Amino acid sequence: MSAQAPHNTLLIPGPIEFDDAVLQSMAHYAESHVAPGFVKVFGETLTLTRKLFQSTDPSAQPFIISGSGTLGWDLVASNLIERGENALVLNTGYFGDSFEQCLSTYGAQVTQLRAPIGERPSLEQIEQALKEKTYKLITLTHVDTSTGVLNDVKGVAQLVRRVSPETLVIVDGVCSVGSEEIAFDEWDLDAVVTASQKAIGCPPGLSIVMTSGRAIQRATTRQTPPGSYYASIANWLPIMRNYENNKPSYFATPPTQLIHALHTTLSQITARPMAERFAIHTQVSDSVKAAVAQLGLKQLAPNPDAQAHGMTAMYLPEGLTPPDVLPGLLKRGVIFAAGLHKEIATRYIRFGHMGVSVTDANRGDIDKALSALKEALAEAKQAKGL
Ligand SMILES: Cc1ncc(COP(=O)(O)O)c(C=O)c1O
Repeated sequence: MSAQAPHNTLLIPGPIEFDDAVLQSMAHYAESHVAPGFVKVFGETLTLTRKLFQSTDPSAQPFIISGSGTLGWDLVASNLIERGENALVLNTGYFGDSFEQCLSTYGAQVTQLRAPIGERPSLEQIEQALKEKTYKLITLTHVDTSTGVLNDVKGVAQLVRRVSPETLVIVDGVCSVGSEEIAFDEWDLDAVVTASQKAIGCPPGLSIVMTSGRAIQRATTRQTPPGSYYASIANWLPIMRNYENNKPSYFATPPTQLIHALHTTLSQITARPMAERFAIHTQVSDSVKAAVAQLGLKQLAPNPDAQAHGMTAMYLPEGLTPPDVLPGLLKRGVIFAAGLHKEIATRYIRFGHMGVSVTDANRGDIDKALSALKEALAEAKQAKGL
């Protein structure tokens, strides 16, 4: 029985439902951000973040900074590339365009490799692009939340190391970390940018960025100063290192209560093997996708290899738009998200299935959502005479 006030079940692709213990840990009494108790909790949270990324390489460095996922893009764009240098963005939806805008804001010369909606650029196309120009970094959205397209991060990273070994591999993992497999060291990634509020299961407000030793080297040996003060790796690096070494340190005040919440959720997540967590997300995703297909709905991503495991983006039947269906879901206590990709936003809806809604079957969130979807669709079709 949840200690939370009764509420509709939030099944959008983030923020997601919370475990009671995570929420309760935010009710921590006031404490100084440099007091021993908090320093220990922050330090442990950084160490748990390494486990989340399955990283044991001491040269890799996690950053946990007050801000949302977007701040991670600024961290990348203002530290890992300099004005006039080339960046390659693999675009699988809305968030590729936004990352491109962020990189351009700091003066990078960005080339986008765009896939048709629901698809991802092929390894052959990426190889060709990498051979045409020298890129300082390549970015890919692990799961684009606007389309539900899953990128082959491991395959792309392998390709980059073979074809253009100096190019940094940057992953937008805002909608994937905690629900999709990521092996930071083994896949030889340079940065994974994420946020607290999706599959990690913490309230919004934390930007979490894992960086490689190579990325730190790039940031600290720039020709020009970083383009940002708050997002400067050089400013945050000693702070993160100190906290993890149990030493108080200050550059800008950390959100103490949120760090407690992150500590709680990461302790829960890493108490079990990460492979188990990924397998549960895959299993639930497979059953959601099968149920959606049974309802006659097509996904934006037709190829199963390119379908995310923490969300499903599905086209509505011809003649229906999100406002025809979402209120019917809400009436049944379930919240889904409308479409986000601007070219087709009125034609589809998104179901987020990550975190406790997936790992805690006793909640019944997924079954409730699927039956609500079936009923809301039937009702909407009837109302439209379809
Ligand atoms: C894939 C992806 N990248 C980046 C972001 C930006 O994160 P935030 O909204 O926390 O700033 C989002 C947000 O949903 C996202 O889904």
